[in-house]
Amino acid sequence: MRIGILGSGLMGGKLGTLFARAGHDVVFSYARSEQKLEKLAREAKGGARAGTPGEAARDAEALLLAVHWSRVDDVLKQAGDVSGKVIMTCSLPMSSDDSGLVIAHTSSGAEALAKKVRRAHVVSAFGTVPSEVLFGVYEARRRTNRPSLVYCGDAQRAKDITASLIRDVGFDPVDAGPLRIARYLEPFTLLIAQLAYEGEGGPELAYRFLRYGK
Ligand SMILES: NC(=O)c1ccc[n+]([C@@H]2O[C@H](COP(=O)([O-])OP(=O)(O)OC[C@H]3O[C@@H](n4cnc5c(N)ncnc54)[C@H](OP(=O)(O)O)[C@@H]3O)[C@@H](O)[C@H]2O)c1
Repeated sequence: MRIGILGSGLMGGKLGTLFARAGHDVVFSYARSEQKLEKLAREAKGGARAGTPGEAARDAEALLLAVHWSRVDDVLKQAGDVSGKVIMTCSLPMSSDDSGLVIAHTSSGAEALAKKVRRAHVVSAFGTVPSEVLFGVYEARRRTNRPSLVYCGDAQRAKDITASLIRDVGFDPVDAGPLRIARYLEPFTLLIAQLAYEGEGGPELAYRFLRYGK
């Protein structure tokens, strides 16, 4: 699959690297230095290259939006026409000082994004785990009991593409329903962040849902 990374920081850099290692064609874009994007592409090996957000979006079947909430409008403007594209977002609608969500309860960052890009298919995914755990999960992908990763969205094809990419990086995808469920998913992410960064044991934290009974 051709995947464009919009925001190549902690999340985008690592997820793009793992998508490339899993065999996808990846374009890393949107960092403050071109050299950083080139280094990411070199080290990801396989089919990865550096580009502008416009280049990342042009041929992509799926885009990963991984920027601070305050940069969403800028990166979308640079990406240009995203009609018909699958946009997987891990971007949380955090205030500029990262002290809290600026959209919650009655909407979510993912829904606000979908309103900005009405002709794209937005899926909320990948944001419910800290970046620090991503490589470890990928390395353990052949073991049983993979960690869960929740995602939600309104377009089935976009969700299917997202679920297959979630599997490719080592998680067990859990379909949480329509995009409005991001209202619950985004605050859940803050709980995970609390456990990862303030709890004991370090940030290499993932989660797994278990069902009991028949
Ligand atoms: N980190 C996590 O564990 C985590 C977990 C769940 C959700 N999230 C969410 O995921 C999103 C991305 O988080 P992150 O931690 O990956 O952020 P990050 O490391 O700061 O990455 C953001 C990317 O945007 C780029 N950028 C920022 N300002 C720019 C500008 N003016 N021009 C061009 N590029 C610019 C950064 O460039 P540089 O590379 O040059 O800095 C970086 O590549 C956020 O919305 C966050 O809430 C993060």
